Order: sequence, then structure tokens, then C-alpha cells
Amino acid sequence: MTRTSIIKISDNFDKSKHNNLICNDAFKVFSSIPNGFADHCITDPPYNISGYDFKKEIGWLKSNKYWSEQKNFNKIEESWDKFSNGDYEKFTKLWLDEIYRIVKPNGNIIIFGSYHNIYKIGYLLQRADRKIINSVVWYKRNAFPNITQRMLCESTEHIIWAVNETNKKAKNWTFNYNELKKYNTVKECSKCKKVIDSEYKFCPHCGNNIFHTKKLQLRNLWNIPSTPSGEKRHGKHPSQKPIEMLERLIVGGTKKDDIIIDPFAGSGTTAVVAKNLDRKFIAIDNNKEYCKIALNRLKDGHQQQII
Ligand SMILES: C[S@@+](CC[C@H](N)C(=O)[O-])C[C@H]1O[C@@H](n2cnc3c(N)ncnc32)[C@H](O)[C@@H]1O
Repeated sequence: MTRTSIIKISDNFDKSKHNNLICNDAFKVFSSIPNGFADHCITDPPYNISGYDFKKEIGWLKSNKYWSEQKNFNKIEESWDKFSNGDYEKFTKLWLDEIYRIVKPNGNIIIFGSYHNIYKIGYLLQRADRKIINSVVWYKRNAFPNITQRMLCESTEHIIWAVNETNKKAKNWTFNYNELKKYNTVKECSKCKKVIDSEYKFCPHCGNNIFHTKKLQLRNLWNIPSTPSGEKRHGKHPSQKPIEMLERLIVGGTKKDDIIIDPFAGSGTTAVVAKNLDRKFIAIDNNKEYCKIALNRLKDGHQQQII
């Protein structure tokens, strides 16, 4: 069957298309996608952090001069992100079960979360005996401050990188070790070969001032700022992920022409990066506005700067 490559928003999956951008409830779409059709899943599901007690927070807000002057909240409050505790676990188990079926054995399943939901997702992956190969910590150095001043400023999100196979049988998953090294370039002294801080003009170990750059294996702490406003020029999504985050995951965890499914695509960041890196995508979101943003981003050739 010949596949077509023009991207449009549709309401169901069509396997004759190279790429699918689908505006529908993911649970209505899953059944039309054959077993093992996708090579990988990279997704950022609802975190279940809405339903926040603003009234209570306002009490704290008033007790603090700085925040009462700022009057600046940065909380997600979306109907798609509200579940009762038991419902969130059921919802997560349901979509994970579909993803185990749709992704090929040994394909990567990479899931974003925060401390609110990531333990539940990790627990469900372990219960399903999926091999977890990494947990990446995304450090947002420009994270929004904690307004209550009663706890640390939450400035990380977490990404679980799992393989769609049991711990015993998992093998030959895609991990592009060498390609990922470009995201960890360091300054090395040409004389004593020690790695030194990028600000140094002279090597603190031997005094030499000749350096070269060296690419090292990538670690699992990624220091990437929150999504820059330039990436939101086609419209705002409350939890849009930075291109740079997706780029590392797609460069490291997929191959050219692989099909990546993202059942909670939002503004389409996974799809945008997949397209720019010559991968294919199945992107699903049940919100029309978000799908339009995704479509416009996909049409915009300037959305992506690859290193
Ligand atoms: C955390 S956001 C994803 C953001 C995305 N990574 C981005 O960069 O824009 C989760 C998305 O899941 C969508 N969603 C929630 N429940 C859904 C469902 N049952 N089917 C399809 N999409 C759903 C929401 O509309 C929301 O856009």
C-alpha cells in the first residue's frame, strides 16, 4: 500500500498515511491501530495535578507580602487533568495496556511525569514486568518559584524510559549511545587531560591554557530550561514540552523512519521533533485547539534547531 505524507487533522487512524494527527479520544482510536504497528511510544500524559485548592493557597498568598504583590499564579487547572485518585490509576493502566499491544516488542516506551504521578506510572510498568532502563531527571533551572514558601521549589520533572518487554526477555532495544554524546560536550585540558569547568581560562590542575572539547556519555540529569516562548508562537498549551527534551529522546531512542505514537500529543511536540528528525508519528489529542496548534507547528519549518 502506498502511503501519503500530507499532514491534516483527522478523526481516526489511517494506516495508509505516513503520519497521523488525530483529534479524538485516544481510547476511541487505539482499537483501530494494529498490534505492533508503532516502533515506540513517547508521551506526556495528564499528570493529575489540577483540582488545586486555590482558596487555601490564597490564605498563604495573603500572609506573604512578596506574593500578595506579585499576584502571580502558575498552576495548571484543566478539566482533562482532573481525576479522582483511583480513576487516575485505572486511566493509566488502560492506556498503558493499549500501548504494550501497539508498540513492537522491545520498542521504547518513554513517559513524562512529575512527583505527582510518576510513581504510579512506574509502579504500573513494574507490575506489567516491563524493563525500565532509565529514569531521566529534567532539571528546569528557571522553574516557577514555590509561592507558599513551605516546601522546596519543585524544579524537576521525571521521564521513565522503559522497554516493551519483560525484564527477562528484553533485548536489542534502540539506544543510540554515540549520537547522544553530542549533548554532553565538556572542556578538556590538552596537557593533563582533566575535564574542567567551561568558565576557566587556565587549567586549575596544570596551568595550561589550551583546551579541546570532548564528547562524553550522556548522563540522566538534563539541565534544560522550561519551554521558551518562541516555541509557543502558534498558541499556548499549559504543559508544552521543550523541543530540546524531545530531541534528545528521539535521537537516543529511535531510528530514522521509525513510527512513534504519542496518545496525549497536546501541542504536538513529539510529532514536530519526529518529523524534523525523519521519523513518523501517530499523534492523538482530544482537544481541537491543541490539535490546531500541533498542525501549525508541523507546517512551520522553523520549529526546530537540531544541534
Ligand atoms: C500533558 S499534555 C501533553 C503536552 C504535550 N507533550 C506538548 O508538548 O504539548 C496532555 C494532553 O493529553 C490530552 N488528553 C487528555 N486525555 C486525553 C484522551 N483521553 N485522549 C486524547 N488526549 C487526551 C490533553 O488534551 C492534553 O493536551
